[in-house]
Amino acid sequence: MNLIDNGRKSWEWATSHMRIMGAIVNQHVNDKPLSGLRLGLSLHITKETSVLVTAAIELGAKVSLCSANPLSVRDDIVAFLSSCGVKVYAWKDETEREYYDNLKQVLENNPHIVTDDGANLHVMAHKNKTFGILGGTEETTSGITRLKALEKEGKLRYPVIGVNEAHTKHLFDNRYGTGQSTLTGIIKLTNVLIAGKHIVIFGYGNVGRGVATRARGMGAIVTIVEVDPLKALEAYMDGYGVKKIDQVVQNGDIFITCTGQKNVISEKHFKKMKSGALLANAGHFDNEIEVEKLFSSSYEHYSIKQYLDCFNINGRRIILLAKGRVVNLVAGEGNPPEVMAMSFANQLLSILHIFQHHKRMQKKVFSVPEKIDNNVARLSLKYLHISIDKLNAVQRKYAQSY
Ligand SMILES: NC(=O)c1ccc[n+]([C@@H]2O[C@H](COP(=O)([O-])OP(=O)(O)OC[C@H]3O[C@@H](n4cnc5c(N)ncnc54)[C@H](O)[C@@H]3O)[C@@H](O)[C@H]2O)c1
Repeated sequence: MNLIDNGRKSWEWATSHMRIMGAIVNQHVNDKPLSGLRLGLSLHITKETSVLVTAAIELGAKVSLCSANPLSVRDDIVAFLSSCGVKVYAWKDETEREYYDNLKQVLENNPHIVTDDGANLHVMAHKNKTFGILGGTEETTSGITRLKALEKEGKLRYPVIGVNEAHTKHLFDNRYGTGQSTLTGIIKLTNVLIAGKHIVIFGYGNVGRGVATRARGMGAIVTIVEVDPLKALEAYMDGYGVKKIDQVVQNGDIFITCTGQKNVISEKHFKKMKSGALLANAGHFDNEIEVEKLFSSSYEHYSIKQYLDCFNINGRRIILLAKGRVVNLVAGEGNPPEVMAMSFANQLLSILHIFQHHKRMQKKVFSVPEKIDNNVARLSLKYLHISIDKLNAVQRKYAQSY
């Protein structure tokens, strides 16, 4: 509990960069629209997340919280949130078993709404009990993919809003936020110079595109590996080299996975990489790089420091960052507060929407209502002190004419 003060200061710092969260709270605080709501959260426990949690409490919710990743917890934030009355089941560097036990603890608080990042809590609820759960929200691309698979098989048992579908989420958090924080995480762990390095990025979706832009801006030579022809074409027209993995695996200095797929970099690739190659993952799960094969195909493994592991394969050193888990959250502080403000404004308003409308919602994965998305965009511009023009009457009419 001696960490409470540190946690509070970080919460204050994040709050000052997430002013739209305060604006949303002020709009609703008198009505306390989340009164009576038990909210169960599984999110990366960062200073930005603490702003979402305190906002939900101010609107009347009772919150229990665990981490969306065993390595992404900040203990001072846990201490601070505990002091605010949140039931927090998390600590830095949980084992896999502790991580799943903590998810279970959140479900034992009988949440009405489950808010998740990656869908492990949703899936656990579906395997055990969904009784009493009115609905859910899901933060990230990979989690939505899993929930849509449940929906397709007719097994989704409550309505879910896919927060990542909001334009004000994926166009900013995934692209600018993860773009920057992935490189911050890599630099913090290794201190390598990015300029002149050959960086190979897997996936040119929102995350991959963001990482590519930042890497190029810092002077790296960037090559994209894709499986989607449209995304590959986009990367090409944006001026990147686009290649198959087998064409670049021998030349890359840093490999970054951003796909949401599994085994993207596998054993056959490790064996061809040059000595000193760095492997990092920005995708949600730790299965994009086949980490267990790094262990089984190397004759020596040692830690250079925490979260920086060296594997000796056929006399060449292959370096794994953050144990193959989300490098921006394990090695860095995650995405910056300015973009998390937009993501969590969507989260908070989506939680409110589900709480108020769940009875009329089918058991499906929904996008964030357009009204919420537009509201978040407008508020964000306001706090950036940016004014924009409006269509005049003639232009409005012209836009509707044929
Ligand atoms: N680290 C973070 O803070 C953070 C933030 C947001 C999203 N994410 C996660 O990052 C991942 C990517 O998210 P996104 O929003 O960019 O998704 P996206 O769907 O927009 O992009 C993924 C891209 O990867 C490509 N791809 C799939 N398999 C591939 C393969 N084997 N080789 C090469 N390319 C492949 C797809 O064609 C697609 O273009 C997801 O797991 C998501 O949950 C992480």
